[in-house]
Amino acid sequence: MSPLKPGSDRRKSMQTVVNKVSYLKGETEVAPDKSISHRTVILSALAEGRSRVKNFLEAEDTWSSCKCLQALGLTIQKQDKELIIDSPGIDALQEPARVLDCGNSGTTMRMLAGLLAGRPFMTVLSGDDSLNQRPMQRVITPLSMMGANFMARRGNYPPLAVQGGQLQGIEYHMPVASAQVKSALLLAGLQAEGVTAVLEEHASRDHTERMLMAMGAKLEVKPGQVRVIPGAKLSPQDWEVPGDVSSAAFWLVAASIVPNSEVLLKRVGINPTRTGILEVLKQMGARITVLDAQTIAGEPVADLLVQSAPLQAVEIEGEIIPRLIDELPVIAVAMTAAQGVSVVRDAAELRVKETDRIAAICSQLGRMGAAIEATPDGFIVDGSKSHIQGGTVDSFGDHRIAMSLAVAGLIADQSTYINNAEAVNISYPGFWDTIKILSR
Ligand code: S3P
Repeated sequence: MSPLKPGSDRRKSMQTVVNKVSYLKGETEVAPDKSISHRTVILSALAEGRSRVKNFLEAEDTWSSCKCLQALGLTIQKQDKELIIDSPGIDALQEPARVLDCGNSGTTMRMLAGLLAGRPFMTVLSGDDSLNQRPMQRVITPLSMMGANFMARRGNYPPLAVQGGQLQGIEYHMPVASAQVKSALLLAGLQAEGVTAVLEEHASRDHTERMLMAMGAKLEVKPGQVRVIPGAKLSPQDWEVPGDVSSAAFWLVAASIVPNSEVLLKRVGINPTRTGILEVLKQMGARITVLDAQTIAGEPVADLLVQSAPLQAVEIEGEIIPRLIDELPVIAVAMTAAQGVSVVRDAAELRVKETDRIAAICSQLGRMGAAIEATPDGFIVDGSKSHIQGGTVDSFGDHRIAMSLAVAGLIADQSTYINNAEAVNISYPGFWDTIKILSR
């Protein structure tokens, strides 16, 4: 067994070129689910003993979670293909002597804010330039109501100092649907006196709820509401992480819009709180077949067969938005290849992701020849007037922007040069290899 030394510093800025392909063909196992991988490490902290994780995502974001949890007293090692996590238990977590570096990962910072809100010591959480510009008030406000003390730049931005202590349960209506905020409150609620209820208008991803219940936590889950009843003893688990539907999304769109393509995506997570992309692509006319559906470690998983098809414009808004929030940049690419005018509304959250994703995708697809216009809470794409030509574009260091632009490059007349292409290492280190393997 070797001690885990997560790859640390961000790689050097890299430019990658993507060329038009004749078609895409083959099968691939997409990157393991990022949300679930983060949670295997963070939730393991709650339960004394050894947890094991099969198919853990080895990428920059999830290394950030590993490094932070190591600093809090967990031992994390790799044995064969499994991650082995030994936790001293929640009561034995130790005050870190240094600032914890959450890198680019909002999930790490916000979930740790919840975990540490109930610990009787001080922690400082910081991140890279992108993360340190992302809003933290959304966790500071409810966790402060529960009794934790926070300091942050302008009350909102990291570095974020948390002095935890005895917490009280609260009932909290989240102003925006956010699994990160919900998860932070559940982690704090487990350590509080009394019940904590979290209410959300539209459902966000529910991995934390599923995993905590598997560990033995007492949760009551109803549509729009989760209640956590503290006191249950949590036990370590053997987890298996499915493929990430957010990573599958790039191939779902690519194989739909590149004519004559056929791609099989193996063992992709199809949790209904994540599959808005499948619903929207099907509504656009995509040919996606769900094969061999099964449940693995509490999560629904299936193979997805995608064959190219002519796409029609679509309008998306409301309830579905949290279920496809991370896929909207690549959905924008699908919209450039669809007949008619597509509209995305109610997605202002995209402006506070790793970049302002509305500005980033609209400016860069616009440079490539798309007829796309940003709105305050989404974008409008005229697929009939879009003609993707290629050119030089920038990911601005955002992994999902880099991969979305690469998908657009597959149908561009000329070469597409993507600056800061190394950003894919945040969630999908095998992305550039896979694009080569599937391209014909
Ligand atoms: C995530 C939740 C979403 C998503 C992010 C991962 C999670 O963020 O965009 O990539 O793992 O809980 P919000 O909770 O801010 O919507």
